[in-house]
Amino acid sequence: MPLSDRVLHPGLRRKIMSAEAAAALIPAGANVGTSGFTGAGYPKAVPQALAQRIKLLHADGEDFQIGLWTGASTAPELDGALAKVHGIEMRLPYQSDPAVRKQINNGQMQYTDIHLSHVAQFVWFGFLGHLDVAVIEVAGILPDGRLIPSSSVGNNKTWLDQADAIILEVNTSQNPALEGMHDIYYGTELPPYRIPIPLLQPGDRIGEPYLRCDPDKVIAVVHTDLPDRSNQFAPPDENSQAIAGHIIEFLQHEVKHGRLPKDLLPLQSGVGNIANAVLAGLNDGPFRNLTAYTEVLQDGMLDMLRSGTLAMASATALSLSDEATADFNANIAFYRERIVLRSQEMSNHPELIRRLGLIAMNAMIEADIYGNVNSTHVMGSSMMNGIGGSGDFARNAYLSIFMTPSVAKGGSISCIVPMVSHVDHTEHDVQVIVTEQGLADLRGLSPTQRARLIVERCAHPDYRPALLDYMERAQRESLGQHTPHLLDDALGWHSGYLKTGSMMAA
Ligand code: COA
Repeated sequence: MPLSDRVLHPGLRRKIMSAEAAAALIPAGANVGTSGFTGAGYPKAVPQALAQRIKLLHADGEDFQIGLWTGASTAPELDGALAKVHGIEMRLPYQSDPAVRKQINNGQMQYTDIHLSHVAQFVWFGFLGHLDVAVIEVAGILPDGRLIPSSSVGNNKTWLDQADAIILEVNTSQNPALEGMHDIYYGTELPPYRIPIPLLQPGDRIGEPYLRCDPDKVIAVVHTDLPDRSNQFAPPDENSQAIAGHIIEFLQHEVKHGRLPKDLLPLQSGVGNIANAVLAGLNDGPFRNLTAYTEVLQDGMLDMLRSGTLAMASATALSLSDEATADFNANIAFYRERIVLRSQEMSNHPELIRRLGLIAMNAMIEADIYGNVNSTHVMGSSMMNGIGGSGDFARNAYLSIFMTPSVAKGGSISCIVPMVSHVDHTEHDVQVIVTEQGLADLRGLSPTQRARLIVERCAHPDYRPALLDYMERAQRESLGQHTPHLLDDALGWHSGYLKTGSMMAA
């Protein structure tokens, strides 16, 4: 489909220009809000042109950096390209690009890790400063200037509303049949004028299929035809199959005891290999006609929709491999009936998550014996990706499940430790911990009861004796007996790993 069929507003047609010309309109020091969520729907041409411009300016000795705000992670063509030329002063919220991660961990880039449901309202509140420019990928522009969103919605509504100037990237490789799949809710207000959000079921449509956009704020329209990043997932291995098996058994047990209906409650599934593999397990499991109220749709969710395990799914973005994207495009009429894409302040909204009663399943880096969870920091100081939506869901879900293999890096790291080296989710927000070894249901237990269960059920046998030894010594020597700890030893597993390369030796 040619560009002229996608840009139907006459005034905006006159603003079509090259990515280089559009990038030249972004001033140094600007806060730039871009589309993009887990490698879907991000602008692909203007950021690369901007990176090229920054490279030349830096070679001439000029300072040029921007603040980069997105929905969540993007791709090498966006934050990756800008990081490589040291063009980002401040990045927020979730990221997963290796170049960005390296600069954050070298102290060369500022990074603020915000719950994904908070980002839009923090901008409305003025907590993050002023948004200067929005760069948004769209699938098309209607005659009245409204926009057809592409493969993610993220924070686009907020960026379009708040930015002084807008650059639109019209991506003709995005399927035109995406039109109608989105639901953009315009009923949000600032406190004290907020009203309840009228969404009662995961599939409810409460807004409009298009993004509103003031054509007078649009300073450039740029054509692209590049596909989204391919999100490759590791095939389910023995560990992830075992984790999925424990979760299915647990959910069946909950149905049997009347704590869950037989078609469960809406599922939320986090990012990454483990989460995707657990979906594969659920797809082979006994449940049918489920729903999902989640943030990203990974390959596993499409498989579940096709098989009928899942009746419908609500999210803010797709995050697919090339093969899954091909299937999505070939069968978009089928998926359009079953998928709703929303703004991330709706997909991750605490009020909705609590009311719908979600089953939240998120991966983690490590948990401690008391059930505190670290989702973000390796060895307490190196940022992996960010908290993403895991806190939005974990804090408010009906059931909050965290999962990980019991060991990492070939067994040299135990993912169950005496004390987590960084806390993202406190013991109060974590109800179930699962590893390939087993599942610990922590509901209603005291800290010492939780510790015994987590070590017995979830720790790897190679680390279990050392954890039991820690618990026994802590119960003898700790100042308090409510949550016994040995402060000198609690982080010794991590410091031991940093010194010797293994927690075994610690
Ligand atoms: N210590 C050090 N490194 C660890 C570790 C630990 N305890 N546990 C895992 N890792 C490493 C793995 O070795 C792997 O490293 P590699 O990339 O060098 O091989 C990496 O972390 C990812 O681990 P993997 O087991 O493949 O997990 P994943 O792809 O399922 O990702 C998270 C796990 C926690 C990183 C990921 O889920 C995440 O970023 N979560 C936070 C955000 C979130 O939950 N969002 C969902 C809300 S919708």
